[in-house]
Amino acid sequence: MLSKSELISRVEGSATLAINALVKKLKAEGKDVLSFSAGETDFPTPANIKKAAIDAINANFTRYTPNQGIPELIDAIIKKFKDENNLVFNSKEILVSNGAKQSLYNLLLALVNPGEEVVYQSPYWVSYPEMVKMTQGISKIISAPVSQGYKITPEQLDESITENTKVFIFNSPSNPTGVVYTQDEIEMLGEVLKRKNCYIISDEIYEKIIFDGVKHFSLAQIPGLRERTIIVNGVSKAYSMTGWRIGYAAGDPKIIELAANLQSHSTSNACSISQKASLEAIAGPQNEISDMCNVFQKRRDNLCRLIGDIPGLKFPVPQGAFYVFFDASGYFGKSYQEYAIKNSQDLCKFLLAIGNIGLVPGDSFGDDNCLRLSFACSESQLEEGINRLKESLKLLN
Ligand SMILES: Cc1ncc(COP(=O)(O)O)c(C=O)c1O
Repeated sequence: MLSKSELISRVEGSATLAINALVKKLKAEGKDVLSFSAGETDFPTPANIKKAAIDAINANFTRYTPNQGIPELIDAIIKKFKDENNLVFNSKEILVSNGAKQSLYNLLLALVNPGEEVVYQSPYWVSYPEMVKMTQGISKIISAPVSQGYKITPEQLDESITENTKVFIFNSPSNPTGVVYTQDEIEMLGEVLKRKNCYIISDEIYEKIIFDGVKHFSLAQIPGLRERTIIVNGVSKAYSMTGWRIGYAAGDPKIIELAANLQSHSTSNACSISQKASLEAIAGPQNEISDMCNVFQKRRDNLCRLIGDIPGLKFPVPQGAFYVFFDASGYFGKSYQEYAIKNSQDLCKFLLAIGNIGLVPGDSFGDDNCLRLSFACSESQLEEGINRLKESLKLLN
């Protein structure tokens, strides 16, 4: 038989997409399943953004654009960085891509040679390990369990970054934990990074979904780190635009050029219409974001109170994104009927089969003690879901 690529054969499909597909299948079969696996907001794309896209279609803005992105969108991104993050970039330092996912993939391929290390923490976003595999680099993971609030310490970072480390990936606010590092904490990690010789990729896709009046802070804002930090951001989460597929990277023009060359041969420019819509998103009115964050914060408060009442679940209150990542290892070793719970996969299968609720197992985020619950759904669904969670867990003994 003809062989396939050994490299790509080692890459695993996305666990979150797999759970979503399973829940959809069960629903189609008539089961009353509630899904808490969404990695996207449940709000529509704001009307002004949709109108910008419709206008672009009507104006026949339907051809290839410059690979790097349309100049007016690049200018809007530069202005956003200046106004919101106090960071100055020029147009050679920005690359618009098909989602922040492509931005990250472009950058890792542009930076990492086979055998070089990429350092990041667990819990991590599902795609980091698989992307690193595709570069033939080596993932070196810093463990940050619930007992340390899912945050790494400067000491851990210091020990983990060696001469063989090429890139450190940092993600705050975090998917899957919703944890937001404070400015002080980021500055302390920054002190360590100043002494090290590696690139930093700062994944800031959840920058604007942040609660309790906390202000986002970027590693690139630390003097001395800007030169080797590449920021990744996009419109997916902040503007409810996951399907439009627009992300961007900002940093060293030599790296951006490599990433752009790669993109020019893989996908070329991001969708022309989505770029026009993203221009309106970034440069237009921003009030719908704060309205959305207020709704998320209210749901978060209610949800944390309800989960907090369930015995044996441990979690820090999320200050960003729209997930609660809770440690449920207190239920491992228990069973119900044919369901023996040994890990996060077993618990998710049990909850789906017996409780009719779809959660994502923590092993796909590098912490097998935990489950991820997305609160990008209605309050009534959340209340019913937590009730089902509570009643199902009671059955285990
Ligand atoms: C932490 C993190 N980074 C990057 C992405 C990619 O976002 P997109 O490709 O939709 O812009 C996601 C999406 O789920 C994410 O959670």
